[in-house]
Amino acid sequence: MNIYFQKTHQRGFGTFPLKGATLRQAMEAALAAGYRAFDTAQMYGNEAEVGAVLAAAGIPREALCITTKVHPDNYTQARFLASVEDSLKALGLAQVDVLLLHWPPVGGDVAPSLRLLQQAHDRGLARNIGVSNYTVRMMREARAIVDAPLVTNQVEFHPLLNQDKLLAAAAETGIPLSSYASVARGEVFKHPVFAQIGAGYGKTAAQVVLRWILQKGVSLNTMSTRPENIRANFDVMDFTLSSVDMARIEAMTRTGHRIVTRKSVPWAPDWD
Ligand SMILES: NC(=O)c1ccc[n+]([C@@H]2O[C@H](COP(=O)([O-])OP(=O)(O)OC[C@H]3O[C@@H](n4cnc5c(N)ncnc54)[C@H](OP(=O)(O)O)[C@@H]3O)[C@@H](O)[C@H]2O)c1
Repeated sequence: MNIYFQKTHQRGFGTFPLKGATLRQAMEAALAAGYRAFDTAQMYGNEAEVGAVLAAAGIPREALCITTKVHPDNYTQARFLASVEDSLKALGLAQVDVLLLHWPPVGGDVAPSLRLLQQAHDRGLARNIGVSNYTVRMMREARAIVDAPLVTNQVEFHPLLNQDKLLAAAAETGIPLSSYASVARGEVFKHPVFAQIGAGYGKTAAQVVLRWILQKGVSLNTMSTRPENIRANFDVMDFTLSSVDMARIEAMTRTGHRIVTRKSVPWAPDWD
């Protein structure tokens, strides 16, 4: 089974932009809530801190699912594998559970970095590999170029944005999606429909949003600094949204609220 759907791993705890005491306290709250999947990246500058918190927690290694992502500046033969080794050293691991390409390269030629990713997998530096911020075309190319299964395309995914094209590409290529900006950085709370639906299940607006994402077949990454939100975001497995409520939420995707745009992230690709 895909690693992000094993055990608790479909509810990952994101660590961007956390550092220092805020990161440590948030991760400790996440571990106490039951999270075992953690998402970091070379770009976040917090791999060593994430590794230190996990080491101090004393959780058996095999219970954890640690994801990191290669910075696009390291997509060269000279730097790629060395940068992954640096990440492993910082994290205090012999092998990362999932290694992602953080962004497609500017210009969109994905083949060279995908071949380097495959090498990291072949050398045992990463148990699983995947991509992030890939378009439909890139997902198809990745499927054709890489031999190992690609366990995810981590993308912006929440109910204020229609990602049907990526969902169709996930079904076609066998590369499942995982979410970031799952509560649209708080934007979902401006729409009363999620809390209204939640009232029928004894759940909060955030829990309804996250449950909708899971029922779309997409694994979650959430980030919060508040223990009550951290616990709530993990506590989404004991209810099922009805098809009527799924459709009401689906209708919200027409809002078209995209957080990661070329304006906010100049290296972002042309989204589908
Ligand atoms: N691959 C990529 O390019 C990429 C891009 C962006 C992010 N990510 C990953 O995805 C993770 C999550 O994404 P994100 O942090 O950008 O977006 P997000 O989870 O949509 O937003 C995080 C914000 O939402 C608030 N929040 C979270 N849960 C809440 C709840 N239950 N109720 C009320 N407010 C809540 C948090 O505030 P409080 O602290 O006050 O709870 C925080 O400010 C990141 O940490 C990172 O690991 C990946």
